[in-house]
Amino acid sequence: MGRRLGFTAVGATLALTLAACGGEGAGGSGGAGSGDSDDLTIGVSMPTQTSERWIADGENVQEQLEAEGYEVDLQYANDDIPTQSQQIDQMITEGADILIIAAIDGTALAGQLENAAANDIPVISYDRLIRDSENVDFYVTFDNFEVGVAQGTALLRGLGLQNEDGSPGTATGPFNIELFAGSLDDNNAFFFFNGAMSVLQPLIDNGTLVVKSGQTDIEQAAILRWQQETAQRRMEDLLTSTYNDGSRVDGVLSPYDGLSRGIITALENAGYGPTIDAANPMPIVTGQDAEIASVKLIQDGVQSSTIFKDTRLLAEQAVIAASAFAEGDEPEANDTETYDNGVKVVPSYLLPVVTVFADDIQAELIDTGYWTAEEVEAGQAD
Ligand code: GAL
Repeated sequence: MGRRLGFTAVGATLALTLAACGGEGAGGSGGAGSGDSDDLTIGVSMPTQTSERWIADGENVQEQLEAEGYEVDLQYANDDIPTQSQQIDQMITEGADILIIAAIDGTALAGQLENAAANDIPVISYDRLIRDSENVDFYVTFDNFEVGVAQGTALLRGLGLQNEDGSPGTATGPFNIELFAGSLDDNNAFFFFNGAMSVLQPLIDNGTLVVKSGQTDIEQAAILRWQQETAQRRMEDLLTSTYNDGSRVDGVLSPYDGLSRGIITALENAGYGPTIDAANPMPIVTGQDAEIASVKLIQDGVQSSTIFKDTRLLAEQAVIAASAFAEGDEPEANDTETYDNGVKVVPSYLLPVVTVFADDIQAELIDTGYWTAEEVEAGQAD
């Protein structure tokens, strides 16, 4: 981190920024129009370092911004809402010209954004939509409803109900499944769940899929802060409450690889597996983010699939948006309808997503340089 420009010293940045802005307010896209990236500082606020995807996001955004000549103030908030609020306040005080924020709790930053707006600082919502604020200027993300559709579809494929080309598979069911969702303070969780249910609900309605616990509401399925341990505990509870009669769970909708690993641990402890092909097969478990530990599990036939979202491309879009603001322009959106944050529809740039089964690891993750073959083999990043 901080590779290209060795200094992130706050005082120096502040002095530069104030000089650039002629002392009018603390920074401000007012600088807009100058287009001189060397004088601009971009505050990048990321939720946590416990998930490798956010580490990669932070590094990618930082590297790409620095390559364009911007100063970068990158902060991680340990999944703690007051920490994130305080870090953003500090970025504003220290003269950030543009903010890129991946929120922990998308509803908790309205105050910070008001402060940013008062200082003419454009705000780019990164991956997760910041809600209940008119001061979100742009949103860069993946097509989150499509992520959910892809997860629901991957569950059907894993169960043999559907073929890769969308035609009906050889399996007929009925299959017992359980549903997991993300953190309810993350707007994405609803898009993922709704997208998945758009695929699964018709098969639940016709009896092909049975949610044996009866827990089909997102509130019942949700895992606060996307915590792996919480997911493990909920899966353990489901196994005890619902599957202690000799019945088995055949599939689990999981919206994120970290949750998938917790779910798989609970299933392993209950005697499932070790793989999808075992005598007492591991249920079909979906995922998201192509985290390296999960890619290894997919390669080994333990986890069935994940959804790959290339964070390098997301970082690139964030940088393109930031550069547009720096030049006094509006970034180009490819969606101006979907992301209503409760106050306004935020112009968005949505990226496509890729489903990854074991057979896709080489082409999608290794050939594209996202992970090396060695990293996949080891199950950890270099
Ligand atoms: C979501 C994000 C997912 C996953 C999850 C847990 O907001 O879109 O890709 O990373 O958070 O971190």
